[in-house]
Amino acid sequence: MSVQAVLRTQQQLMTCAAAKPWPAQLQKSSHTLAATRSRQASLRPPSCTATAEAQPSSMYDRPQLYDDAFSYRDFTAEAKFLLGAYQQHAADAGKLNTVLELGCGPANHAVQLAKRKAKVWALDANEAMLAYARDKAAAAGVEVTAMHGDMSDFEVQGMSGSFDMVVCLLGTLSHMLDNKQAAACFKRVAQHLRPGGLFVLELAHPGDLFDGSLLLQDTGAEMWEVDKPGRKMMVVWGTDVDQFDPESQVLERTVSIHTMKDGNMDECLLEEVVAYRQFTMQEIDLLATLTGMEVVGVYGDLDLNVSLNHEDAFRLVMCLRKL
Ligand SMILES: C[S@@+](CC[C@H](N)C(=O)[O-])C[C@H]1O[C@@H](n2cnc3c(N)ncnc32)[C@H](O)[C@@H]1O
Repeated sequence: MSVQAVLRTQQQLMTCAAAKPWPAQLQKSSHTLAATRSRQASLRPPSCTATAEAQPSSMYDRPQLYDDAFSYRDFTAEAKFLLGAYQQHAADAGKLNTVLELGCGPANHAVQLAKRKAKVWALDANEAMLAYARDKAAAAGVEVTAMHGDMSDFEVQGMSGSFDMVVCLLGTLSHMLDNKQAAACFKRVAQHLRPGGLFVLELAHPGDLFDGSLLLQDTGAEMWEVDKPGRKMMVVWGTDVDQFDPESQVLERTVSIHTMKDGNMDECLLEEVVAYRQFTMQEIDLLATLTGMEVVGVYGDLDLNVSLNHEDAFRLVMCLRKL
């Protein structure tokens, strides 16, 4: 499987070129901008309700589809980053022995870390995802303890103050829609980390939050093609009608996944609107401070060589150390 492209619409590119007030280094990377598709293709995908085989539901209830849609990532390289970040930023690092992945989904990172001999726990609120994650770990021949739970209210028996590292990837913290939930999540993480242990978070890049486009309802729609044996799919991440509420900082993101036929989007396999709380770096710093952690590393991708203002930066990755 490969991603053939991560795409932005022409309309958004024009908006970027004309009005983006942020320095060039805070804008999307050039490889993202290079792969542009037509406005019509991205903003008017086939309707799910008009498609006979459509099964609108949550993507998290369809783990295989979710896993395919987000399989453009290189999990080996991302696991290497996590190990490197631990060595660089945890106190008394040594070998990475114990890891907890919050909102693990298919647990691809958990599996990779288990392959590198860490003892891994993976927590998710969705039973279908957990069953899928268990199968993936079994297929990879590694042990991952997949646990059902809410990341704002969890307890891993016998592991209080023990974890070397907790990770929460691909914007999963954005499911904590209000401050109370986010603070509860951080409190739980801090309770489970050993002193000097590391919490790694992957979130949206601040350039995407502060370029003003969210307020203009230009919500940064992206699409990418997934090429699987026997079928091609297009993932459409956002539309120009998505709503951002500046008070709650919650973005109502429309996500749809389509089959491809003759180079065009054909059947709609899934469509849903997912609420994502957008976090700023300052909020993460504050949450860390309030729960006995400190920010010790910031990156623009799951890559130790990509700083936040690097031209390839397109994520916010923050490393917090438990005091
Ligand atoms: C964006 S996916 C990320 C999955 C995985 N970390 C990855 O990188 O592909 C978010 C995951 O968080 C889970 N999730 C959502 N809300 C949650 C909560 N309150 N507690 C635990 N898991 C949650 C979902 O079921 C889903 O599997």
